[in-house]
Amino acid sequence: MGSKQVIISVFVTLISTFCLCIVKSEAQLKVGFYQNSCGLAEFIVKQEVLKGFIRDNGVAAGLVRMHFHDCFVRGCDGSVLIDSTPTNTAEKDAPPNNPSLRGFEIIDNAKAKLEAVCGGVVSCADILAFAARDSVQITGGIGYDVPSGRKDGRVSLSSEALTNLPPPTLNVNQLTQAFARKGLTQEEMVTLSGAHTLGRSHCASFSNRLYNFNATSSQDPTLDQFYAGRLKRQCPQGTTNPNLVVPMDPFTPAFTDVGYYTAILANRGLFTSDQTLITSPQTQAQVVQNAQNQFLWATKFSAAMVHMGKIDVLTGNAGEVRANCRVIN
Ligand code: HEM
Ligand SMILES: *[C@@H]1O[C@H](CO)[C@@H](O)[C@H](O)[C@H]1NC(C)=O
Repeated sequence: MGSKQVIISVFVTLISTFCLCIVKSEAQLKVGFYQNSCGLAEFIVKQEVLKGFIRDNGVAAGLVRMHFHDCFVRGCDGSVLIDSTPTNTAEKDAPPNNPSLRGFEIIDNAKAKLEAVCGGVVSCADILAFAARDSVQITGGIGYDVPSGRKDGRVSLSSEALTNLPPPTLNVNQLTQAFARKGLTQEEMVTLSGAHTLGRSHCASFSNRLYNFNATSSQDPTLDQFYAGRLKRQCPQGTTNPNLVVPMDPFTPAFTDVGYYTAILANRGLFTSDQTLITSPQTQAQVVQNAQNQFLWATKFSAAMVHMGKIDVLTGNAGEVRANCRVIN
């Protein structure tokens, strides 16, 4: 082989690997995937989310977070929904998920309805992606089309939740890296963090900032004094009560708005991972911009949710469609 041919063949190999990569990362999800196979799929999911929301508006926060926790661990493959077995501790029982993750019964209810109407067709991973979108919409965010056609994975390991889900103690560089590992940009990280406009947190997720911060100060000096005082009353030192929770956006915890960003600007971000977003010039500028422009943020949020929903998905013949979202077939 002459040197020209070697160069050409190297070139061809490079190009074809490149194309394979594109196909792999852009796996063929498509909007309206169930149009012919189960036309009512998205409608049925929305009904169940609405029903659950009327009983307890916290399920909206739960479902948005659940989709994030699904996608960051083995891709959006419904692995967060699988129950532990005597021989396997599943993702949902890892500390970032248990006891705080909520809304599983909504997915179960939607799955039961869908199995009755069009058995074996709609994946649990897609049900969760639809339910997260519906939750955003119900709480006042901007609805968006969810590309679908995900298949369900057959593996769920507690250890992988611990290594892939960012803890609330991370700083802005660590957060940026954690999202970059999943193919998401720093701006998408800032945008998606705005989901903390919804829902609540258990005391254990931030009590380090109140009582034993570091060698020089027991309380995190970047936390507003008055807010810290209130948090201390809500979360007494050393409490082990797992039922104690505080809203992350104290004013509108069931409304998708930019309260999260205004709180950060007032040094009232609940987690280190929230407050840290104003410590770098680029992310600070985005926090300011989002706080000032609800429509811009809500639009970016919907787009980032769609992008997050494509992380490492299984499509085509990969994976399966679980009959029960809690159990592999
Ligand atoms: C940037 C890194 C992130 C960190 C460190 C983080 C951490 C946390 C923590 C510690 C909680 C409280 C859990 C508890 O104690 O009950 C929480 C709640 C929540 N997170 Fe995040 N999160 C991050 C990003 C996201 C993203 C990207 C989303 C969704 C797009 C999200 C959605 C939520 C929601 C909605 C809640 C409230 C859940 C509920 O009320 O049940 N988070 N997060
Ligand atoms: C404690 O935290 C503050 C604020 O982040 C910082 O300025 C200070 O240097 C820290 N002290 C130690 C001993 O790490």
